[in-house]
Amino acid sequence: MLVRFLSRAALPLGASFALLLAGCSGGGSDTIKVGEFASLTGKEATFGTSSHEGTLLAFEEINAAGGLLGKKLELITEDNQTKPGETANAVNKLIAKDGVVALLGEVASGRSLEAAPICQQSKIPMISPASTNPQVTQTGDYIFRVCFIDPFQGTVMANFATNTLKARKVAIFTDVKSDYSKGLAKYFKERFAANQGTIVAELDFNGGDKDFKGQLTAIKAAAPDGVFVPGYYTDVALICIQAKQLGLNVPLFGGDGWESQTLLEIGKEAVEGHYFSTHYAADAAGDKVTAFVAAYKKRFNGKVPDAMAALGYDSAFFLADGIKRAAAAEPAKIRDALAATTAFDAVTGQIAMNAQRDAVKSAVILQVKNGAFKYVETVKP
Ligand code: PHE
Repeated sequence: MLVRFLSRAALPLGASFALLLAGCSGGGSDTIKVGEFASLTGKEATFGTSSHEGTLLAFEEINAAGGLLGKKLELITEDNQTKPGETANAVNKLIAKDGVVALLGEVASGRSLEAAPICQQSKIPMISPASTNPQVTQTGDYIFRVCFIDPFQGTVMANFATNTLKARKVAIFTDVKSDYSKGLAKYFKERFAANQGTIVAELDFNGGDKDFKGQLTAIKAAAPDGVFVPGYYTDVALICIQAKQLGLNVPLFGGDGWESQTLLEIGKEAVEGHYFSTHYAADAAGDKVTAFVAAYKKRFNGKVPDAMAALGYDSAFFLADGIKRAAAAEPAKIRDALAATTAFDAVTGQIAMNAQRDAVKSAVILQVKNGAFKYVETVKP
């Protein structure tokens, strides 16, 4: 599914689809074309919708301020429907047919890992807003991200379990279908062991499962002080509900994959009190955060931007900064400029690109309280 956008500042997201259906393309060589691939529909639709809205807002702001190098930026968006295989199709099309000079995407690590080899081979810079699995950028020197990586996130949550929750015995419940989940479980485990903690149970599920009671019963029997669930929100919400039904009354905690309003809508009181790490808190202090939250709310009907929205916005401005410093809309020059970024002031914090093209930056921990996400603490790298 294609959504084409060219500086239509006043239109809501649904209207961009309508424009496409009406056959409006808005292309032309007088623009700088940037591709975006996202899960706008399907199981992880809130990931793609949020990152897309953040990205769109950034493009609108850049174009309203005159664009780049005397041209407008054109965002060409493809929906991979959260389906394996669709990201490769989307990326091939954006590069071969649309001739984009750079690509923005994806949130989920598994889908970024599908896109990265294609971008690397085609020598088109790819910037993932939110994929935290280390392998994503290890694919090659054209692949970047504006978020931290899971060895850091796993360490943050292991230290949180040890120091804040005072947990000595933890169970881990991993989604074996997800590169993200498997990686985060591994890094958590390494640090928790280094903290002298004991992993009393390790159970698996498959993303999309509906019944987790067998594994949760085994977890309960191991009597942990807490359960680390490095999953995505749709599964996590059901896991929290079933854990509560089984009387597993210890803190559940996870990583950024928990972050979605849908977690609260499905999980309701079953997710209350639980914790996760993520990239930014909409209720934290800071001028850049405040301005972004206000602009996003104004643009998207009062909606509070989540981490994916903030990272989508940051990925677009990070690219724009690279194009400006490259002084040319050419993929190789943009790559070099992006790699040379030493300090970029983003909504989600100061970004320094390290030699692996990963952003070095802080994480925040949020808790579900009274049906909302509440800021708990910031953890520096
Ligand atoms: N970090 C997750 C991944 O790599 C994706 C994610 C990012 C989910 C931010 C929610 C918020 O798969």
